[in-house]
Amino acid sequence: MKRVISGIKPSGELNIGGYGGALQPFITIQHEYECFFFVPDLHAITVTQDPKELYQRSKDIAAFYIAAGIDPKKSAIFIQSHVPAHAELGWMMETQSHFGELSRMTQFKEKSDGKDSVSAALFTYPALMAADILLYQATHVPVGDDQKQHLEMTRDLALRFNNRFGSTFVVPEPIIQSLGSRIMGLDDPSKKMSKSNPNRNSCVLMLDSPDEIRKKFSKAVTDSEGSVHLDWEAKPAVSNLIEIYAVFSGDSIAAIERQYEGQGYGSFKRDLAEVVVEKLIPIQERYKEIIDSEELITILKDGALKASEAAKATLHQAKRAMGFVTF
Ligand code: AMP
Ligand code: TRP
Repeated sequence: MKRVISGIKPSGELNIGGYGGALQPFITIQHEYECFFFVPDLHAITVTQDPKELYQRSKDIAAFYIAAGIDPKKSAIFIQSHVPAHAELGWMMETQSHFGELSRMTQFKEKSDGKDSVSAALFTYPALMAADILLYQATHVPVGDDQKQHLEMTRDLALRFNNRFGSTFVVPEPIIQSLGSRIMGLDDPSKKMSKSNPNRNSCVLMLDSPDEIRKKFSKAVTDSEGSVHLDWEAKPAVSNLIEIYAVFSGDSIAAIERQYEGQGYGSFKRDLAEVVVEKLIPIQERYKEIIDSEELITILKDGALKASEAAKATLHQAKRAMGFVTF
């Protein structure tokens, strides 16, 4: 049986980078695998969170999963902290993680860079992420490019545990889309599109109005060549826009290049904004319908039940393997 687990942290407002790298691939994948999509709130608190914002954003991510098209009848949608097995197995995986390998994680280095003090949990985060995945015996994990290293560590931990304590965990494979797995900032194509960038024009948010979206794309940096073709080395800014166009329209890169041949950037950027607006409007409408609804609460309760059932067996097996007293 092929099984998928993945999640998007509720650590900021969702942007089209998270949509391209994760949410849209979830929608496609749900038909081919048994899927678990969760809101990793335990991961969000590895950096300081305002409690009101964490509350709202956790509900937001769950609502976006549904609004973007994940069918809760087919896939479990749940909040990580509703399934305590994550924290339990997370601790067990932490005991199997080495200080050296955790020190090599790029995301930790980036997030701790220049800070006087960071939480111990930010450092041990990959052990919890490994637990999230291994608990469900997931065969595949769809993520954006920046999570590749964490996935590699998950595989190492699974193999290490299996070797030491006997075969317990499935060793998962990442699924990284060829398109959209690394959407860059609109103001600077050398940096990942991120909600933490203080320049508001660098990032299109899932709840931006059509006019905001148009404004952001009209201000997006390009180059002086005036030719719409993909070349990440020589034309990173335009290549990023072409990739966003492809992700949101479903058109191939070649078709986009053909369509805008000899036209400069003006009409390309205007059309790109419309392609994104067209995709986001129905998602925004559905989001507004469910964000404060009973329906959302029911979906999250059902999802947590289904996830707890699936997690229980693996946790029990891992505890026995390690020598815990279990009945
Ligand atoms: P996060 O919001 O950091 O939890 O990211 C959620 C998912 O979206 C992860 O799979 C990330 O790899 C992916 N992701 C986040 N930002 C981007 C981006 N700019 N481009 C592509 N994927 C992204
Ligand atoms: N670490 C991921 C991110 O920052 C979020 C995440 C936590 C995750 N646990 C996961 C993704 C398990 C996939 C599977 O984007």
